[in-house]
Amino acid sequence: MHLPMTEITKNTAEGTDRRGFLTSATTLAMTVGLLASYGSCFAIGGRYLYPAHPGRRAWQYVADVARMSKGDQVVYRAPSGESIVVARQGVAGNIEDFIALSDTCPHLGCKVHWEDTKNRFFCPCHNGTFDAKGKGTGGPPGDASQELFAYDLKIEGNMLFINAPMERLI
Ligand code: FES
Repeated sequence: MHLPMTEITKNTAEGTDRRGFLTSATTLAMTVGLLASYGSCFAIGGRYLYPAHPGRRAWQYVADVARMSKGDQVVYRAPSGESIVVARQGVAGNIEDFIALSDTCPHLGCKVHWEDTKNRFFCPCHNGTFDAKGKGTGGPPGDASQELFAYDLKIEGNMLFINAPMERLI
């Protein structure tokens, strides 16, 4: 079967245009996808390399001051998922009475708690100890000079608030 020469030429030109368009569109889509992947990798890598990045924080209610006596502690779960122990260490009636520290031991991640009678935070997994401000003093955390991460607190009225991390970083 013989097609007229003009029709063959016309069909070939349309096919070339369509192939060219599809090739360009595919290349563009792959380039955008690749750049998005690299961007995500850099963002995740950056957060991994710089975990101290504060992220978004907001003041959140923890407890009524009058309901916490010296030696009491509450475990506060931040919207980011971080677990924080808030302990009352004094009786002055001001913000200096309180401290908020990550309750995750920097050694292997067990949960620490406040021991008021010994004026320390304690990790039962390997007898890790921390002073009242969260500095490692004994066991593996003491040997490695590790600390518990601290969070800011404030009192408004009779209410205790924590400047809590609002988003999970990784
Ligand atoms: S996990 Fe806390 S001392 Fe080992």
